[in-house]
Amino acid sequence: MDSALDFHSLRALLEWQVELGADEAIGDVPVNRYEAEAKAPQGVAPAAAPAANVALVQPSGGSAVAAARKAAEGAGDLEALRAALGAYEHCELKRGARNLVFSDGVPGARVMIIGEAPGREEDRAGRPFVGRAGQFLDRMLGFIGLSRDENVYITNVMPWRPPQNADPKPDEIEMMRPFVERHVALAKPDLLILMGNTSCQTVLGKQGITRLRGQWDQAWGTPALPMLHPAYLLRMPSAKRAAWADLLEVQAKLREGAA
Ligand code: URA
Repeated sequence: MDSALDFHSLRALLEWQVELGADEAIGDVPVNRYEAEAKAPQGVAPAAAPAANVALVQPSGGSAVAAARKAAEGAGDLEALRAALGAYEHCELKRGARNLVFSDGVPGARVMIIGEAPGREEDRAGRPFVGRAGQFLDRMLGFIGLSRDENVYITNVMPWRPPQNADPKPDEIEMMRPFVERHVALAKPDLLILMGNTSCQTVLGKQGITRLRGQWDQAWGTPALPMLHPAYLLRMPSAKRAAWADLLEVQAKLREGAA
């Protein structure tokens, strides 16, 4: 039997359809899906917005970035990097956070996911992606045989929860960039998945996730795939189709690398 059509693949496809909201084989009424997406939700660039190279903003205290670079470069392994972040005092968000959220999953895994910032559950648990979006992320990964228990490493751009789950500010992103770069260098993944705009802005210096998604880029010499953030997919189920295509891209890239 064609391996693309075996029981497990077909079952995964069916489950994905259910995730998309399909609850019947054929609807009675045609749906014009082009009309539904005229208005993009908050925090997501409208579909028509071009992917742009954005100037990375220098914070008023350029010394905060210099201190971040020095601390990050001095870390010889992941534990040292975690400690360096814990000792970094230039980011205001640290004061309002309960915990440092550094990473989860398997260090050294072929796949490394870079998300945005912890929410309430992550702040409490000290682990990234444990809330609703995280549970959905786990399901997404499961569709292509990936799991944080076995073969995925996960981190965020920002290790401290921003108040009201606001997007990290440009100067905060600049401070974290050296740490993220070092994190990738130490974890040595074969590929990166960049979840959402903040991750793309930090790692690639580009914004416009709806345009960037699904197109391979390079980050510090490592292939990087921008994807729609799972929290966005929960709010916008019609975008799950694009996420499924991107997951298959990841799967294909991993197989390519394994050949
Ligand atoms: N969203 C993220 O980007 N990261 C988390 O850890 C949780 C939600």
